[in-house]
Amino acid sequence: MSLHERRLTDHELGGNTLWYKDAVIYQLHIKSFLDADGDGIGDLSGLTRKLDYISSLGINTIWLMPFYPSPRRDDGYDISNYKDVSPEYGSVEDFQTFVNAAHARKIRVVIELVVNHTSDEHPWFQRARRARAGSPERDYYVWSDTDDKFAETRIIFVDTEKSNWSWDPVAKSYYWHRFYSHQPDLNYRNPEVVEELLSIMNFWLDKDVDGFRLDAIPHLVEREHTDSENLPETHALLKHIRARLEERHPDVILLAEANLWQEEAREYFGDGDECHMAFHFPLMPRMFMALAKQNARPIKTILRQTNSIPDECQWAIFLRNHDELTLEMVSEAERNFLWETYAADKRARLNLGIRRRLSPLMDQDRRRIELLHMLLFSLPGSPVLYYGDEIGMGDNTDLGDRDGVRTPMQWSDDRNAGFSNAAPHKLALPVIDDPQFSYAAINVAAQDNDPHSLLNWIRQMLALRRRHRAFARGAMRFAKTDDDRVIAYLRTCGEDVILCAANLSSVSLAAKISLPKLADYVPIELAGGTTFPVIGRDSYPLTFQPYAYFWLKLTKAG
Ligand code: NOJ
Repeated sequence: MSLHERRLTDHELGGNTLWYKDAVIYQLHIKSFLDADGDGIGDLSGLTRKLDYISSLGINTIWLMPFYPSPRRDDGYDISNYKDVSPEYGSVEDFQTFVNAAHARKIRVVIELVVNHTSDEHPWFQRARRARAGSPERDYYVWSDTDDKFAETRIIFVDTEKSNWSWDPVAKSYYWHRFYSHQPDLNYRNPEVVEELLSIMNFWLDKDVDGFRLDAIPHLVEREHTDSENLPETHALLKHIRARLEERHPDVILLAEANLWQEEAREYFGDGDECHMAFHFPLMPRMFMALAKQNARPIKTILRQTNSIPDECQWAIFLRNHDELTLEMVSEAERNFLWETYAADKRARLNLGIRRRLSPLMDQDRRRIELLHMLLFSLPGSPVLYYGDEIGMGDNTDLGDRDGVRTPMQWSDDRNAGFSNAAPHKLALPVIDDPQFSYAAINVAAQDNDPHSLLNWIRQMLALRRRHRAFARGAMRFAKTDDDRVIAYLRTCGEDVILCAANLSSVSLAAKISLPKLADYVPIELAGGTTFPVIGRDSYPLTFQPYAYFWLKLTKAG
């Protein structure tokens, strides 16, 4: 019996097996969150101490960036041991303590799993390069005598890498890598590698993790005369992994990192038998585009082109994360426009993206930051927040690669932003102290005490969101407006009907929203509880300040 058949009972649809549909995810880097032992590097004990803070946000799921032993040449996305914790972050016991403490607060834990590649320091690679060509050990990775195989495959880190092949003088052969040359790709055509992956997953499932973010999965399998992305072999592999995990852990989720157009990303749901969730990469730049163009069309077009997904699946939607704001899923003209708008300073550009945090991208304009969050919390999908963005943290483009958006969390105006007691030069990364974004002004303690802070606004919005099932589970339909600067859509789940409307422009305006079939409904504004005029037969008029928005619950009159 397929999973699809087994899962779709009425009881289960409302039940806990679909917890990820109600997830509000907080992404964080242990390294940069809180340093409890004073060595300058964040750790699991520090994170565990801050669980009450995370819980206070209204978050119910944490996504942990990689915490495994690693040479950290790609900040942990280069793993050298999958069944341990990097000593600077703590131990496996500390990890278990953290998971237990998170669960005690009803917070789920999704961990990063870099499945496509390892570090070149991983013992598998060290063994492979010394093993006889063609031997099972050598076959853990992908080798070739020449560097022209898989020639149609694009290069991802275009600023650093010239080829997907690198020469290994020990093996006297080229090895394949889709990312940095120190990250050799695993060979999933080798069944032993598949078994290794399952063993790693089971290791962490035994520590009670709730899911895995599967890094870079479109690249798992390669084949000659293709672009080696999204191959049927890769999908078959994911189905196999899902089925094997389901045998013991029916609640575990797989979250696909597949930076693709929506139709290809959708394939990672399979028929409900591959990944439970997938990031919606094309939606993200279009939210920034809609703001820059002061026009709803980019968002409407992409969501209209996004076909429905299996009932038990869910998109993960996001504004920013630990990487550059990727502009891979836009046209070249759109990319240039977004670069010009949001990264006029070329130091902010990296690969095909922008290495900046949300608040600097919005010039610290609270109205636009709120508007983007309002979209994030009300468009279909589970929202993912990136640590620090809830207080409007800044970035540091003087740091290399993507480090500028991974600086220490700003807890207070104390030494090192309250992140660590270590001497400042020992910190994993320097704290932000430029005058505009300094931790002296932008920190959790200050915002905690201010009822009007961004932090408290986010808490309130998430509290409202939790009260209405329509946001997490509801259907979504755009409402026509007479002005393209206004976006309006209905989220509906049974009797719960919410009209979301926003002015994407920098000017005040009045717009008419077409709401056929909703005549005689009364809108009630969610945050303040104010009753608005009843909806009549004609289009409904709404007036907006610049970048203003409404969440209106529609109830039948009388
Ligand atoms: C995607 C991750 O998000 C990124 O940080 C990493 O560098 C690459 N995959 C390679 O693992």
